[in-house]
Amino acid sequence: MDTSGLIAAARRARVHARAKFSGFQVGAALETASGSVHTGSNIENATYGLTICAERVAVFKALSEGESKFSRIAIVADTATLTPPCGACRQILWEFCGDIEIILANLQDKTETVRLSSLFPRPFDVAFLEK
Ligand code: THU
Repeated sequence: MDTSGLIAAARRARVHARAKFSGFQVGAALETASGSVHTGSNIENATYGLTICAERVAVFKALSEGESKFSRIAIVADTATLTPPCGACRQILWEFCGDIEIILANLQDKTETVRLSSLFPRPFDVAFLEK
């Protein structure tokens, strides 16, 4: 899928955000190495603290479908300054997806592509547990 298709998938997923507490809707579309796409939207709830971001919903959906190799994730929010993944999502993306491309986009078609390693430069990961 081309980049605009992946962004469009994230944009469609964003519509399904359950964000009645923040009003901040986010969509994500995670592409596997074989080219399939798994989407997510943020899911809030009345306890607030159990909220899950769009990115982690997409990762967990894909993992639970048996996927294990990922290439890119598109993240869409309605902000002039492009919305990057939060710290918790960076940790999960690093753990399960490695140094993937992160495509940030808004509803005005502004986009920027960065590597996860540039957003998350000194990660704690399983390598430390093996020392
Ligand atoms: N959120 C995401 O889904 N992804 C991000 O990258 C940033 C924040 C969600 C969490 C919460 O539902 C709302 O946006 C406000 O923080």
